[in-house]
Amino acid sequence: MSNPFDLTARIGVVPVIAIESVDHAIPLADALLEGGLPTAEITFRTEAAAEVLARLHEQRPELLLGAGTILSPEAARLAVQCGAAYGLAPGFDPAVVDAAQSAGLPFAPGIMTPSDISLAAAKGCRLMKFFPAAPAGGPSMLTNISAPFAHLGLRFIPTGGVKLETMGEWLSLPVIAAVGGTWIATARDMREGDWAGITTRARAAVARAKE
Ligand code: 3PG
Repeated sequence: MSNPFDLTARIGVVPVIAIESVDHAIPLADALLEGGLPTAEITFRTEAAAEVLARLHEQRPELLLGAGTILSPEAARLAVQCGAAYGLAPGFDPAVVDAAQSAGLPFAPGIMTPSDISLAAAKGCRLMKFFPAAPAGGPSMLTNISAPFAHLGLRFIPTGGVKLETMGEWLSLPVIAAVGGTWIATARDMREGDWAGITTRARAAVARAKE
């Protein structure tokens, strides 16, 4: 299988999902796929997340599955059991990175400062989530804090306040692998069954990522 981070970079945008019901898993996947967006970060913020990952892994193998909000070594191991291709977290926890590496899970920890980047890079991480991207200072902040690490070839996924309207500013930075955010498919969209809206937003995001 290709490296999931390379595939993510090729797609350019990752919908961050907080899914409340296992019944939403397949309609969500189909809405994203219909919009030309073959990836999702299913976050461990809901009780349904693990089962959703397992179901998607089994029934929609064409979807590149990330497991997000991995806050413990147990969650890293669970993500692998459920078939996630890679994992992400909002912050940097060395115990979680260790668990992900031992379990063979490509992992992008969250960073927001040069110290975070330094610690994550020392652990061998090369893809990092810049979170919360907009409140932390936007593209110029990431450009500045990542500059001293340029020789390491690090790449970042900004999330937190990234929107369709601001995707382009981020994607024009050479250090960006992809952008992420919840705006494409919110818990409310799924509760209301707005699958067509999810497809429309997915399609718009994919088009913007290709520009
Ligand atoms: C994340 O975990 O990546 C964020 O919750 C996404 O933030 P957003 O809701 O501002 O897109």
